[in-house]
Amino acid sequence: MLIGVPKEIKNHEYRVGLVPTSAGELVHNGHEVIIETNAGSGIDMTDADYEAVGAKIVETADEVFARADMVIKVKEPQAEERKKLRPGQILFTYLHLAPDPEQTKDLIESGAVCIAYETVTSPTGGLPLLAPMSEVAGRMSIQAGASCLEKAQGGRGVLLGGVPGVPPADVVILGGGIVGTNAAMMALGLGACVTIVDRSADVLRRQVVQFGTDVRTMFSTRTAVETLVAGADLVIGGVLIPGAAAPKLVTCEMVASMKPGAVVVDVAIDQGGCFETSHATTHSDPTYVVDDVVHYCVANMPGGVARTSTFALNNVTLPFTLALANKGYKQALADDPHLREGLNLHEGRVTYQPVAEALGHDYVTSEKALGL
Ligand SMILES: NC(=O)c1ccc[n+]([C@@H]2O[C@H](COP(=O)([O-])OP(=O)(O)OC[C@H]3O[C@@H](n4cnc5c(N)ncnc54)[C@H](O)[C@@H]3O)[C@@H](O)[C@H]2O)c1
Repeated sequence: MLIGVPKEIKNHEYRVGLVPTSAGELVHNGHEVIIETNAGSGIDMTDADYEAVGAKIVETADEVFARADMVIKVKEPQAEERKKLRPGQILFTYLHLAPDPEQTKDLIESGAVCIAYETVTSPTGGLPLLAPMSEVAGRMSIQAGASCLEKAQGGRGVLLGGVPGVPPADVVILGGGIVGTNAAMMALGLGACVTIVDRSADVLRRQVVQFGTDVRTMFSTRTAVETLVAGADLVIGGVLIPGAAAPKLVTCEMVASMKPGAVVVDVAIDQGGCFETSHATTHSDPTYVVDDVVHYCVANMPGGVARTSTFALNNVTLPFTLALANKGYKQALADDPHLREGLNLHEGRVTYQPVAEALGHDYVTSEKALGL
């Protein structure tokens, strides 16, 4: 198969669909790989790195789209990229179609076979191609929070780990899922005093099994959140109700009750945020202050560490990319019901029910569309 990787063109997107080692795996499996020149340059992957593993560099995105049987990307195709797709061409990338009628319409019209990273499932539950971005954001939330706690950033001037004779900071983590667990790992590693709040007793049990008595756990009630938030130096928001907006666990009054210079990092901002005072910010202007509390609410945190995020993403996408290339998409989707969940559009038909329902399109099952 001929696999093509264009340079990402979305504003401030530095990630790339294939790292050189992934391109090399595809070449070893007998495939041809073409990469647009400088596709990885923003994160220090040069054309020479790709050529060294047997990939070919091409000058333009037009050439990638015109020649490739399968296009591998990171972000959803932008309008000018969508025009370059053709019927039967495979597109494997994040799509997030449900809230995006224009993109969905263009991709339906393209007739391409669109497989979305974010809806591929796993035999053990969860969304394996989204999980690494939650791992990145969870870990990053603590370094962002630690920096915001410094005086120059408007914080209280508190060091997360304290020093001998001075107690560590109090870190409260709302939600003990992937974001929360990774945040806890980093905060404990820095020596902070960490409390994880979740509405699932099983989740809290898992935290204690993982971190032992180093971590405090608290069942999520309004009173518990109110008390913990008022005493915290840093609060991380990492709650998720799948398919719904984030619950506003922390009210404006609770934020007003926090210590001056305390910090909130609302990782759940991409789902609307779990603080009433949150609104989305960007890497170029990440924070603002409400009631003397510093808010960090960057909606695409992994983009800030694009190099780490690209490798993390490739680690989970590569087995699926190889299956699609080695078997052809029809056989790969027939063999693996979890990869099949990723099929959102097939040659002009919507094959993912939530997208069809959200946007009022006719829905056809993947099995029917693929003739299985
Ligand atoms: N800002 C970013 O760049 C970025 C990056 C990755 C993920 N995220 C977001 O972070 C959020 C968390 O993602 P995740 O992968 O950790 O999800 P997850 O499903 O692994 O964990 C969510 C946890 O929230 C808990 N929860 C739900 N309602 C609760 C409540 N009322 N009180 C306490 N806990 C509650 C759940 O029990 C679960 O343990 C999501 O909104 C995700 O989209 C944001």
